[in-house]
Amino acid sequence: MKIYAEITGWGKCLPPAIMTNDDLATFLDTSDEWIRTRTGIEERRVSHVGTSHLATVAARNALAAADLDPNELDLIIVGTCTADEIIPNVASAVQRDIGAKYAAAFDLNAACSSFLYGMHYATQAIRTGVHKKVLIIGAERLTRILDWTQRESAVLFGDGAGAMVLEATTEEVGLLASHVTCDADARDVLALEFGMSFDRFGFDGIMPFNFVGQEIFKRAVKGMSLAVEKVFAETGLTTADIDSLIPHQANKRLIDFLAKMCHVPEEKTVINIQKYGNTSSATLPIAFCEAVEQGIVKPGDTIVSAVFGGGLTCGAGIIRWGQRVTPKRDNTMQLPSNGQSALDLILPLHLQTKAAWEKRGE
Ligand code: ACO
Repeated sequence: MKIYAEITGWGKCLPPAIMTNDDLATFLDTSDEWIRTRTGIEERRVSHVGTSHLATVAARNALAAADLDPNELDLIIVGTCTADEIIPNVASAVQRDIGAKYAAAFDLNAACSSFLYGMHYATQAIRTGVHKKVLIIGAERLTRILDWTQRESAVLFGDGAGAMVLEATTEEVGLLASHVTCDADARDVLALEFGMSFDRFGFDGIMPFNFVGQEIFKRAVKGMSLAVEKVFAETGLTTADIDSLIPHQANKRLIDFLAKMCHVPEEKTVINIQKYGNTSSATLPIAFCEAVEQGIVKPGDTIVSAVFGGGLTCGAGIIRWGQRVTPKRDNTMQLPSNGQSALDLILPLHLQTKAAWEKRGE
């Protein structure tokens, strides 16, 4: 009998502080008009807590939706490129904080593609019988690593987390086909040079963010198109079989391109980039969660997804939703505000980085 990996739980966590485009224009040479028309973004969230905290709230919401005892989890995967520490990983903090003491726990960094990468490998583990119940999370606190003097990249990103519970089933549901790739020739076009190769003795507060937007855009279109074609070929499905599109949210123009390619109308395409910007690995699970909450995903629907991110990693998947679209228990837990606005949280970072650039004479 064939085994599949059903999505039985879904949850998200968006920090409460909102940074609008107009807020950004108070300290960057940019405008609401430029950001809105080039990217589709209107506002994004800024977290006052660490990535593990965001991940834990999203995880608790997903477990509530599945009504699953954390002790039943075999594995926790956290997709992130903004781990609070290098060691230990974020997944171990989540394991401790949700009380999943029998679960293996690791982080996965494929930048914005991390969540789909996580679904790909978790689904394989369930389908081969290695694991039965897996929690996958995408969580990011990108606002801590951005260069807040660099308008080209600072306006694009935001913080958040999303999660899914996958459980073994004999119903033909979950990730039916997926394809993940990496176009490493372009690994430098999206790079944050801050890691073990970093000179900590010469650190002056600047974390150089290399970002070649147009090159990323071109390669993202090519990579996602190929990945989508692959998953259609693997399943034998066509665009006529697709009920909705849930893509990565990096640029509204990229989402429109995918919708056209997959023949999915606007009302069946999940778009939340205007509210959150690009939350990297958190984007996909937040979008899935909202698609279910808003009734875009219906019982038994077939969904196509496509992602890309630093690496340049890329991927696509075809997902069949199960029969349940309502959470078993309330899954709307949120982070409380600590009273700080988004500008309160970001302005000190902007001023510190600006002063460091001035000291360098650049
Ligand atoms: N505000 C105002 N002007 C700006 C801003 C800004 N925030 N950023 C750039 N500009 C200026 C540039 O300096 C340039 O000015 P110039 O013509 O005088 O030289 C002009 O706007 C046009 O810049 P482009 O880079 O050509 O703008 P483009 O239309 O390519 O849009 C963007 C840039 C939005 C980044 C686009 O290339 C893109 O979406 N790329 C792919 C998506 C992406 O990179 N996403 C994030 C990373 S991928 C991931 O998911 C991790």
